[in-house]
Amino acid sequence: MNDTKSDPTSGAHMSFSDDMSYGDYLQLGSILNAQQPLSDAHDEMLFIIQHQTSELWMRLALHEIDAARNLLARHELPPAFKMLTRVSRIFDQLNSAWDVLRTMTPSEYTMFRETLGKSSGFQSHQYRLIEFALGNRNTSTMKVHEHSPEVLELLNDELTKPSLYHVALDALSSKLEIGFDPDTLPKDAPHRSDAAIVDAWSVVYKSPEKYWSLYELAEKLVDLEDYFRRWRFNHVTTVERIIGFKRGTGGTSGVKYLRAMLEVELFPELWNLRGGL
Ligand code: HEM
Repeated sequence: MNDTKSDPTSGAHMSFSDDMSYGDYLQLGSILNAQQPLSDAHDEMLFIIQHQTSELWMRLALHEIDAARNLLARHELPPAFKMLTRVSRIFDQLNSAWDVLRTMTPSEYTMFRETLGKSSGFQSHQYRLIEFALGNRNTSTMKVHEHSPEVLELLNDELTKPSLYHVALDALSSKLEIGFDPDTLPKDAPHRSDAAIVDAWSVVYKSPEKYWSLYELAEKLVDLEDYFRRWRFNHVTTVERIIGFKRGTGGTSGVKYLRAMLEVELFPELWNLRGGL
């Protein structure tokens, strides 16, 4: 019998007093100490971990969106597709995660809801950064970050950059003869649908074989928004299931506010053009 048969762990490194271990590399000491429930309610741990893992996935989404944006700005479309696909998969991952949270009933949430005080996902600066990076730059939500200068700086910094959608429009305009200049689009307001942009994307959708990479770019963006919309829908449905029409801990009307957010369009022209094909 050889070593591996008698002891499957044979050869495994066992001593880490002088070497970096798995836990060191991943800083598990910090991460696994960051769950600090404020009540004795069993389900608060689920609530905390669900939010923390969502924030970790959002961190990766921002990393990927940033890389995709840099590539698109240099008109390197195919390499950016990989990152855009990954962002959609991240949202898909977040969408599946709601199934875990849905196992918490209203009675169970009520056991610890008061301990949250005024804190709410409404104050998630990473969620706002994602919205800003994609192009939905509703600056009215920034006020909640005034107590945190570093976060405010991150958000303000983002507003100085063109959004992912604007760099996509820049790539579009460089390949097509169209009557708009992406540089004139505002950086500090949500992107609004523009008839000239609908026309430009329509040209692409009418001759995909001629404009294949722009066509693929458009569909990657639609995919991303599709998964994002599903996240919003899963969120509002879970919220209604758990708190009904109560006001949110963040102070908004709750489900009513979240339903209004379902109407927000990130890349409106890509949806508008479809009716005209
Ligand atoms: C029991 C589960 C949850 C409930 C009852 C809930 C409730 C709410 C409510 C009522 C709002 C509206 C703002 C307010 O007044 O508070 C909100 C916003 C938000 N929540 Fe949740 N939420 C839950 C889970 C989550 C999870 C797991 C995440 C993941 C990070 C999350 C992220 C957000 C974000 C990003 C917003 C802002 C949305 C926007 O402004 O468009 N929520 N939530």
